[in-house]
Amino acid sequence: MRKKLVAGNWKMNKTLLESNALLYDIQKLIEYGVTDKVSVIVCPPFINLYSASEILKNTGVKLGGQNIYYKDEGAYTGEISASMLKSVGCEFVILGHSERRQYFKETNEIINNKTKTALKNGLTPIVCVGETLEQREKNIHFQIIEEQIRICLTGTDNENINKVIIAYEPVWAIGTGKTATPEQANEIHIFIRKLISDIFSKDISDNILILYGGSVNDKNARELFGMSDIDGGLIGGASLKAESFSNIVKSTL
Ligand code: PGA
Repeated sequence: MRKKLVAGNWKMNKTLLESNALLYDIQKLIEYGVTDKVSVIVCPPFINLYSASEILKNTGVKLGGQNIYYKDEGAYTGEISASMLKSVGCEFVILGHSERRQYFKETNEIINNKTKTALKNGLTPIVCVGETLEQREKNIHFQIIEEQIRICLTGTDNENINKVIIAYEPVWAIGTGKTATPEQANEIHIFIRKLISDIFSKDISDNILILYGGSVNDKNARELFGMSDIDGGLIGGASLKAESFSNIVKSTL
C-alpha cells in the first residue's frame, strides 16, 4: 500500500513572519497522528526554511525546498545547494516545476543533474512533469511526458529510484482554476506508472508515489486522491491557507 502524500508548494509567497504564522496555524489544524496516515510536507521559500524547521519540530510535518542548484558548492551567486537544504532540516526538494522550466529555462537535462545531486545528498526529489495546453491539443502529451521522465531520471539506478517522487502537473491546470478531471489525471498517472515499470521494474512502479498538481483545492481533492494511481497532491494556491491545506490533507484519510 502506498502511503498518500500532500505537499504544499508555497512558491514565492510569504515573508518570514507570515510564514511562521501560517506554519503555526497548519500545525494546529493537522492533529497529532494524522501524519502517521498521510505524509505532509510544506515547501516555503528558502529564506523561511530554518525558522520553519524549528516550528515544525516534532509535529510530523516535513520540510522541502523548491529548487536546488546541481553543483555541490562554489562560485554560483544566488544559488542554493542540496547540502544547504539538508542543513536547515529539509528532507525533500521540488525539481523541474513548470515555472522553473518556463521562466528559468530549465531543461530536462538540467533537472536530471539536479535529481542526481538531490539523491546523492539524501534529499528526496519531487520531480515535476506535465504538458502544456498546446502539447495536449496537438495530442503529443504522452510523448512529452515520456521524454521528461526518461531524461529527468537518466542515471537513476534501481536503488535510488525508490527515493524519487513524481508529480504530474499539467501546465494548463497550474494556477488557472482548471483542474484535470480525475479520469484525465489518472490516465496519465497509469501511463507514468507503466513507464516506470518498463524502465525500472514492476515492483518499483507499484511503490513509487505519483502526485497530481494543478488547481487542487479542498473541494476537488477527495475525488482526485480517490483514483487508483493518484497518490496525493502537490498543492500551490490552496496551500497558502491553513484551513484549505489541512482540509486537503484530511481528504486523503
Ligand atoms: P496550483 O499550483 O495548485 O496553484 O495550481 C500547483 C503547483 O504549481 O505545484
